[in-house]
Amino acid sequence: MESRLSGAVEVGIECIDEQHRELRRRAAAFLRAIGGRSRQDVGILLSYLRVYAVAHFGEEEEAMRRTEYAGYHRHKAQHDLFLRDLLALSAQQERPRSAGVAPRDLARWLKAWLNEHVSRTDTEMARYFEHLRADECPPRWTARRDPVA
Ligand SMILES: [Fe+2]
Ligand SMILES: [Fe+2]
Repeated sequence: MESRLSGAVEVGIECIDEQHRELRRRAAAFLRAIGGRSRQDVGILLSYLRVYAVAHFGEEEEAMRRTEYAGYHRHKAQHDLFLRDLLALSAQQERPRSAGVAPRDLARWLKAWLNEHVSRTDTEMARYFEHLRADECPPRWTARRDPVA
């Protein structure tokens, strides 16, 4: 099952890359034993995803804004849609007297995200950052790395 997750994307910003790696690790671990996943496992993954999404999307969006990336709005729209879906899933999971979210539904949704967003949209963004690094002086990029005064 793990091999069906697309290959790693290196954006070149360590915190973002580490967040992608952790997301893939979590998704792969969840998928490996999908048949035995409990409601509690689903809740743990959803709560990780809520923390991930806020921190990770914030980092990516800040980097895109600072570098005036032309694909920013399209990219952010995908993040916003993910958050909307995630909140809907979380509400479904927590609804009293409901069965919660089926592990396979959560897995299918997360795999689609990894394959369609992380492997495509994030890769396009990564190529843009690569181009900036090749120039060696993107002023808005280096601003991010300046120590706080
Ligand atoms: Fe990402
Ligand atoms: Fe993204």
